[in-house]
This record gives sequence, structure tokens and C-alpha cells, in this order.
Amino acid sequence: MYFIANWKMFGNLKSINSIKNVINLSTKLKYRKAKIIYCPPYTLLDQFVKKTIKTKIDIGAQDCHTHQNYGAFTGSINAKMIKNAGSKFIIIGHSENRNTGDTNKIINLKIKSSLNEKLKIIFCIGETLKEKKNKKTNQVINTQIKKGLKDIKKINNIIFAYEPVWSIGTDIIPELDDLRNQVKKIKFFIKKTYKVKNPLVLYGGSVNPKNILSLREISLINGFLIGAASQNSKKFIDIIKKTIN
Ligand code: PGA
Repeated sequence: MYFIANWKMFGNLKSINSIKNVINLSTKLKYRKAKIIYCPPYTLLDQFVKKTIKTKIDIGAQDCHTHQNYGAFTGSINAKMIKNAGSKFIIIGHSENRNTGDTNKIINLKIKSSLNEKLKIIFCIGETLKEKKNKKTNQVINTQIKKGLKDIKKINNIIFAYEPVWSIGTDIIPELDDLRNQVKKIKFFIKKTYKVKNPLVLYGGSVNPKNILSLREISLINGFLIGAASQNSKKFIDIIKKTIN
């Protein structure tokens, strides 16, 4: 079970101490099967890597530039630099970045450059409310997958995160039956298209210590991508404990 903390634009040097209790939890036998990954902002990557060294917790970045090498791109960071900072994972295709210009083509370039650096990708996909209302969900998701993974043959370093855009930061989660069906369809599509047996599909969007009790019932889901609730260690731990129990 994956528990990925997406800190977004949150956190300072002090907040790193708050993950102490999560590190402690990860050492307990019962929680060994919880794969915990922190994705802090770039400014804290190095500190997080140092803090989690010799633990089972891994670190990921939240995005990267498409360009593989150094270049004149003010304000940007590439996959090579992220790898060099000690990250093993990277989130790509988050709807907050799709919103500010990331097209499927740009996402494809970011994924390729991250795979070249041997980073594991947390590839976000999901429909907007308008697309859902227009019954375009499957079409949108399948296109995101196909275009995002264009020319990529091996997808064993890719973890899919299904995040309906209307669920992110809204406290609204899909109806359980709908979510179960959607994850089933996504897995079916990935299996068929890429000839893989067990693709990993996570759910993300307003996961919190309350709704986790229902979300955990969907056994097809391989874990959760957690935003706001992961910024609070108590809530994050609560989510992990309730899922694993
Ligand atoms: P949220 O964010 O848990 O705050 O809804 C999830 C995400 O954006 O990955």
C-alpha cells in the first residue's frame, strides 16, 4: 500500500521535524507494508532526503522541467537535478500543473526525461467536473494515459494516480461504487494497452482520516496520493493506521 504525501507549496525548515512520528511508525513491523513517500517542495528535498536516510521512507519531487540537461530556464529544475538531490520518485501530470499549462505532450516529455534518470513516476490522471458531466471520463483518462506515455514501452516504473479534479481539495470524494468501477476500468485499459499484469493505481483527492474508512474498502486501489491531510503528521498517521489495520 502506497501513502504518498504531496506537500504542494507548503513547508519550511521547521515542518521537517513534524515527520518524526511518521518515521517512527514506519519502523513498526505492522506498518512495514506501508510504502511511505514524501514529496516536499524543491526547497526541502535535500533536508527530507537527509532526514529519511536509513529509513524505509522515500522522497519524491512534485514536478520537473522537460529539458534533460542544464539550460537557460530560469526558475526550473530538471529530472537530473532531482535525482542528484536524492529523490527516487516524481509526481508528473498533477492537475494543478495541467491547469497552468502542462499538456499531455509536455507531460510525456517530463515522464521520458524522468525515466531516463531512473526516477519512479507517480503519473496523475483524472477528469474535470465538466468532463464527468459530459460523460467524457473514460475518453479523457485513456487519452491522458496514451499521450502521456507515448513512445514509452516499459511502464514498470510508473505508478498511476487517479485524481478526479473535482475531488482535489474539495472534501468531495466519488461514490464508492463509481470509484471502484473507474479504477477497474483504468486497470483494464493499462493491462490491455501495455501488456502488464498488475498495474499500480492509487486514488487521490480529499483523502482524510474520516473517508479513509470507506476508501480502504476498495481493494483494487493500491494506495493514496494525499495532499492537505499529509501536511499534518497526525492526520497522515491516522490515514495509514486505518488503512493497514
Ligand atoms: P488533496 O490533494 O488531498 O488536498 O485533495 C490531493 C492531490 O492534489 O494530490
